[in-house]
Amino acid sequence: MNPQTFVMKVSAKAPQKRLILTAAEVLRRGGLVAFPTETVYGLGADAFNADAVRQIFVAKGRPLDNPIIVHIASVADLRALTSHVPERASLLIDRFWPGPLTLILQKSLDVPDDVTGGLDTVAVRMPQNKIALALIKALGHPIAAPSANLSGRPSGTTAGHVLQDFAGKIDMILDGGPVAVGVESTVLDLSRKPPAILRPGAVTQEDLEPLLGRVVMGRGTEGQKRSPGTRYRHYSPRARVTLVEPGDQCAMAELVDRWAKEEKRVAVVARHFTSSGKARPIVRIMPQELKEYARQIFAVLRELDELAVDEIIVEKTEEKGIGVAIMDRLKRAAAR
Ligand code: TXA
Ligand code: MG
Repeated sequence: MNPQTFVMKVSAKAPQKRLILTAAEVLRRGGLVAFPTETVYGLGADAFNADAVRQIFVAKGRPLDNPIIVHIASVADLRALTSHVPERASLLIDRFWPGPLTLILQKSLDVPDDVTGGLDTVAVRMPQNKIALALIKALGHPIAAPSANLSGRPSGTTAGHVLQDFAGKIDMILDGGPVAVGVESTVLDLSRKPPAILRPGAVTQEDLEPLLGRVVMGRGTEGQKRSPGTRYRHYSPRARVTLVEPGDQCAMAELVDRWAKEEKRVAVVARHFTSSGKARPIVRIMPQELKEYARQIFAVLRELDELAVDEIIVEKTEEKGIGVAIMDRLKRAAAR
């Protein structure tokens, strides 16, 4: 159906109407279009076209029980997805939408089961990216879109990353340049008390608590049951990832030497690294500023894969602000 994947450059500031209409037409016919959001690129299908949604799972190699986030362009779009927007959700919507916060709400019967993996809830967010919003409006339906990466791989943060994973497998990629945030949205489960963060993102626990009262981190088995996607190994480059404590130059140097002796290709991803031994690893110095770090981390992991690295040593970041999301992704990348 899609032997060729069209890549169209679109202005992120003023998306060209003609290009957006072309992409919307592809979605209307049941095709798959990758598009930028502020967090990562999404792989979109018409959320109300169950056949098209199933194609997303095929293209990604995604387990069928892992539900997909539905993207909307206005609060009115919620009516088609849920019959009830709780008071707490309204507070969050006023404050954080459009933006990197996904809300788990009771789903209406109209939402195909393929979108929600058979759950009675639906994950919804309004992205803060003009191309994404224009595309949803032009289609006139919400767009179901997981991150645009093969299942388990680091999420795509540029159109080039998306092409790496999906050339010839999807119909179109809208290239709106690199994303702004770099890690996926915060997923918040409002269906239980206290509300639980099932996946940390740019909207943090500290951002949410002033509006909601106590919010818990929903990791562990309970959280996993509720957010099937968090069960799987994720965000992983092909190389093995090993985490070391912040600033532990000794540990980094020791690992570099050990693996260099084994003739492995080694990379270090750190905010400071002073090379001491004889071995010369590939070094990627990361930004001090966590927001900038988040923007770059998936691209760096993908680049090291391109360089056919065997071992990636990553210096941990502090788990504050968006650092909680960064460390969540790094821990998953390191999980075996
Ligand atoms: O920033 C983002 O959220 C990006 C962009 C494209 O919007 N999307 C994204 O989608 O990261 P995906 O499919 O890679 O991750 C969605 C996460 C998964 O962990 C999934 O299990 C969870 O959201 N999820 C989706 N629907 C759910 C539901 N009804 N209940 C609990 N968790 C759900
Ligand atoms: Mg994903």
